[in-house]
Amino acid sequence: MISYARQTHDEQPEAAPPPVEEHIAPAPRVSVQAFCETVETAAAVQSAGEDRRLGKAHLKIQMGGMAAAIEAYRSAPTPNVIVLESDGRNDLLSGLDQLATVCDAGTRVVVIGRINDVMLYRELVRRGVSDYVLAPVGPIDVVRSICNLFSAPEAKAVGRIIAVVGAKGGVGASTISHNVAWAIARDLAMDAVVADLDLAFGTAGLDYNQDPPQGIADAVFSPDRVDTAFIDRLLSKCTDHLSLLAAPATLDRVYDFGTDAFDAVFDTLRSTMPCIVLDIPHQWSGWTKRALIGADDILIVAAPDLANLRNTKNLFDLLKASRPNDRPPLYCLNQVGVPKRPEIAATEFAKAIESQPVVSIPFEPQIFGSAANNGQMIAEISANHKSIEMFLQIAQRLTGRSETKKQKSSLLSPLIEKLRGK
Ligand SMILES: Nc1ncnc2c1ncn2[C@@H]1O[C@H](COP(=O)(O)OP(=O)(O)OP(=O)(O)O)[C@@H](O)[C@H]1O
Ligand SMILES: [Mg+2]
Repeated sequence: MISYARQTHDEQPEAAPPPVEEHIAPAPRVSVQAFCETVETAAAVQSAGEDRRLGKAHLKIQMGGMAAAIEAYRSAPTPNVIVLESDGRNDLLSGLDQLATVCDAGTRVVVIGRINDVMLYRELVRRGVSDYVLAPVGPIDVVRSICNLFSAPEAKAVGRIIAVVGAKGGVGASTISHNVAWAIARDLAMDAVVADLDLAFGTAGLDYNQDPPQGIADAVFSPDRVDTAFIDRLLSKCTDHLSLLAAPATLDRVYDFGTDAFDAVFDTLRSTMPCIVLDIPHQWSGWTKRALIGADDILIVAAPDLANLRNTKNLFDLLKASRPNDRPPLYCLNQVGVPKRPEIAATEFAKAIESQPVVSIPFEPQIFGSAANNGQMIAEISANHKSIEMFLQIAQRLTGRSETKKQKSSLLSPLIEKLRGK
């Protein structure tokens, strides 16, 4: 058992999704066995097991609490994590002492209990319990507790994946993902990478005016070679904070990927890059579905017509159902106001989706067309264009961060910081 405790007793037990600022990194392939005393806790652990962040973990749930755990491990080896629900204090401590005699080294113990008392925490820490979570627990509390066992505290800021997808082809999903990633890198000063997952036809290379010799295909076709150094070599630098994992955009191969083809690439990017923007092509396959469900946040780009509305609704329904412990996806409308084209109003869209669009980006063929053909971002063509503010708004909503540029540019800010420090 390990010898530090993380106290989550001051957190809300409700099953509300975690705030966007809180980032829970997915757990690796570990075995987890839970011994519950109440059906409520068993149900919470069961739904936690269905959370995307525990997708790789193997979870087994049993009733019977401490007594069942001691009985179980008398003969069987212990898993990577044991989750124990316990009501009492003395039973708990004596039970843990007994369990310690049969526990394999490296097994971590998480206790779910009802006693909120610092003396008890101390006793638990002394016995090497990794985490104590106060009941009643919601699924996200269990997810958080298990995932945090495997993520170093200093790595917390690392690896948020943002998936961007169009509700239909050609609605501008790639354009928006590239401009939003630009805003994340420039205005929020976060290191970001755009991964162009449209291997055959992707435009990220064109949009950022990059022609890298290698890119994402080298990684996805040789998953065994994928590690941080390998991926680093495939990235091309667009700006100070922005890199690109480009698509080959060639047709000599076909790209019929298996469901988990991108897992190694995403896991590696997550371990080094604070923000990963996936430009997902508009298609429905095992791997696109997996990339969406597994992302930390999702942006759906839709044009204001009926097919986009239906598809957005279907995507929302599916993603909400598959991600019950996450906030719902975000969406934005794009290409709004094409002359003479009948459109569905943003209010109607919002009513049907039961969620407001983050922004409605107008149809501006002149500026978007020039940007696309020149290999530039909108902000490079027209520093004050109204869509730039919208890209920033999307960036802020997706990352949960606010702008840093303005604070930095203030002459007085170093002084203000100093005064604040005192
Ligand atoms: N707001 C806008 N106003 C005018 N043109 C736009 C706007 N947004 C995107 N476009 C243009 O629409 C075209 C399609 O954009 P983009 O390639 O980003 O769409 P997509 O949804 O990624 O398409 P695909 O389905 O091929 O992946 C591009 O030429 C782009 O410049
Ligand atoms: Mg695209």
